[in-house]
Amino acid sequence: MKMYYICPYNRIWPMNDAISITPDSCIRVGQALPLLHELLPAGRRTVVLADSAVIGLYRPMFAEWETLEVDACESAKTLQAATELWRKLLDIGADRTCFILGAGGGITTDMAGFVASTYMRGVDFGFLSTTLLGQVDASIGGKNGVNLDGYKNMVGTFSLPKFVVCDTSMLRTLPDREFRAGLAETVKAAVIGDPELFEAMESVSFGQLRSDEALLGRVVERAIRVKAGIVEEDCREHGRRRLLNLGHTLAHAIEKSSGEMNHGEAVAVGLRIAAETAERMGMLSETDCGRIVALLRRLGFELELPVPMDSLLVAARKDKKRENDGIHLILPTAIGDVRDLLVPLSDAERLFAHKTHDL
Ligand SMILES: NC(=O)c1ccc[n+]([C@@H]2O[C@H](COP(=O)([O-])OP(=O)(O)OC[C@H]3O[C@@H](n4cnc5c(N)ncnc54)[C@H](O)[C@@H]3O)[C@@H](O)[C@H]2O)c1
Repeated sequence: MKMYYICPYNRIWPMNDAISITPDSCIRVGQALPLLHELLPAGRRTVVLADSAVIGLYRPMFAEWETLEVDACESAKTLQAATELWRKLLDIGADRTCFILGAGGGITTDMAGFVASTYMRGVDFGFLSTTLLGQVDASIGGKNGVNLDGYKNMVGTFSLPKFVVCDTSMLRTLPDREFRAGLAETVKAAVIGDPELFEAMESVSFGQLRSDEALLGRVVERAIRVKAGIVEEDCREHGRRRLLNLGHTLAHAIEKSSGEMNHGEAVAVGLRIAAETAERMGMLSETDCGRIVALLRRLGFELELPVPMDSLLVAARKDKKRENDGIHLILPTAIGDVRDLLVPLSDAERLFAHKTHDL
């Protein structure tokens, strides 16, 4: 059934809540929780790897499954924590035929996807994504992994979940700070490939996005479509998928170095710097750069660098987007269009470092 939602700026967005990346990996958005039972494979043992905070909030939901707890803390997204989960799976006699359901935000789904795709050389898995950031980004696209020595997502797999359930009603319990973090990835998706979504976000407030679930469902769906469309073309990041790293080269370094900002907050700062760098290079108009920065500010993001640029550049040298002595810089050229530039590391450092003097 198609549903229509009239946006505040008077456009009609058709609602199509089923999205597929491949024929056997689907995403369900909106009031999707009731579909979970249909999506879980009948007759197979289900083991849930769930964020302990989410278990606390939604305890009755987990009562029917064997559930192992995941600590949703960036510093606990490690090989050691993965090893503990592998051991627990072994202890409870989980074999290759079991199905793993990762339930939580991005930390939990990154971890559950990694544990599932490596345990006994890989068992099937699906996600119940419970944060906005998870729904619009982390649970989508099959990148799973853990951090190594504090460097983000250095060990992992590309492996698509059988399904992702993104039920926006579960976002009601998210603290404002975590909700806002998800909006940074939503703005990122809009800048990469959906100018209409960007415009819609410019015309609504943080409060409206928080309280209007129908609006939020459409926003989540549109952001997912940007990512899903790119992943469908380039699942293993040989080319176009790199565009999804907009704002992330510095964001990962900020997250590692600041110790205070969460992923989404660091992405917001990374987006501002990417937009301003693109503008200075003559790739992005002053107007579009201003719109990106203004939208992030209006959504309530702190956009100043929390640590000196020098320390970020040291961390950025270890970024996965590095290629020998070059690094892929993803820069916006318009709202809805981004470019991937492979530049020498020293040039990237000069471009970013120059910017700090202007701040
Ligand atoms: N795999 C990818 O493609 C990809 C993409 C983007 C980000 N990520 C990763 O995602 C992670 C960040 O994800 P996140 O922002 O979802 O963080 P998170 O998983 O830590 O969740 C944020 C907080 O919200 C809590 N929470 C989760 N669901 C809740 C709910 N429904 N109600 C109340 N509280 C809830 C969690 O306990 C946690 O405290 C980072 O590790 C990042 O690297 C991965």
